[in-house]
Amino acid sequence: MDITGRTVFIPGATSGIGRALAIALAERGNTVIVGGRRRELIDDLRAAHPAIDGVEIDTSDAASIDRAAAEVLERHPGLDVLITMAGVMAAEDWTSPAGFVETAERTVTTNLLGPIRLIGAFIEHLLTRPAATIMTVSSGLAFAPLRVTPTYNATKAAIHMLSESLRLQYADTPVSIVELVPPAVQTDLMPGHAENPHAQPLDDYIAEVVAILERDADVREVLVERVTFLRHGEARGDYADVVRALNASDPHAQR
Ligand SMILES: NC(=O)c1ccc[n+]([C@@H]2O[C@H](COP(=O)([O-])OP(=O)(O)OC[C@H]3O[C@@H](n4cnc5c(N)ncnc54)[C@H](OP(=O)(O)O)[C@@H]3O)[C@@H](O)[C@H]2O)c1
Repeated sequence: MDITGRTVFIPGATSGIGRALAIALAERGNTVIVGGRRRELIDDLRAAHPAIDGVEIDTSDAASIDRAAAEVLERHPGLDVLITMAGVMAAEDWTSPAGFVETAERTVTTNLLGPIRLIGAFIEHLLTRPAATIMTVSSGLAFAPLRVTPTYNATKAAIHMLSESLRLQYADTPVSIVELVPPAVQTDLMPGHAENPHAQPLDDYIAEVVAILERDADVREVLVERVTFLRHGEARGDYADVVRALNASDPHAQR
């Protein structure tokens, strides 16, 4: 994927992977617009990095997406990359409705409906560009389930299949689909996750992602070394072992 001279909008870049990727892309000379609900974090990023702009956006709210999209396109008519980064992850207990229904609805709204609505808000513009990229964000958990987060796993599997499907629909257009498939990465996605010894340090992860993007102009899935264990279990024929190992090393697995 070309990561020079692009204009990139990353809703979900106030922290974690989105924030680190925004800084890495800005440092390589791209114009980056960060988005999220936490205004103060957007302002901090803008103050520290002259190539970074920002908009407030709640991707669980259709009206907020439309408002933010209009603002981004007015200020950055050259926008040619959308990265649908915003996501939430929460443990669920599916043995009673109180343990999962509300969390599941919130997770689907942010992780699946959010990217769908974002693509809806930007696709007509992106199709007018000579070359454009939509980067979706799935997870290794799209390919092997973590016991405690059923809806999260399901939304990420849906994002994978959406990415595969859109690649077919946009085949004869200027729009490319790139799927970022992170392994466990040390961020604040879940309580304690930033200190999880089984997760990849954020800086290492971003360095590996940038190297893949720079090396492979036609990359379809951004797969760092650590995620291949989860991604290719079925193809290797050791899926059952992968699921067992994943859940044995999960600190929440005994709940
Ligand atoms: N870290 C991992 O282990 C891992 C593994 C696989 C996939 N991923 C995926 O990577 C993406 C980034 O996660 P992360 O690990 O970097 O976690 P994070 O540090 O918690 O970042 C999540 C980002 O999403 C934004 N966000 C969440 N809900 C939002 C909403 N309703 N509207 C707008 N922005 C929203 C947050 O911004 P505000 O709170 O400011 O709104 C924040 O910028 C997610 O899609 C996640 O599923 C992460």
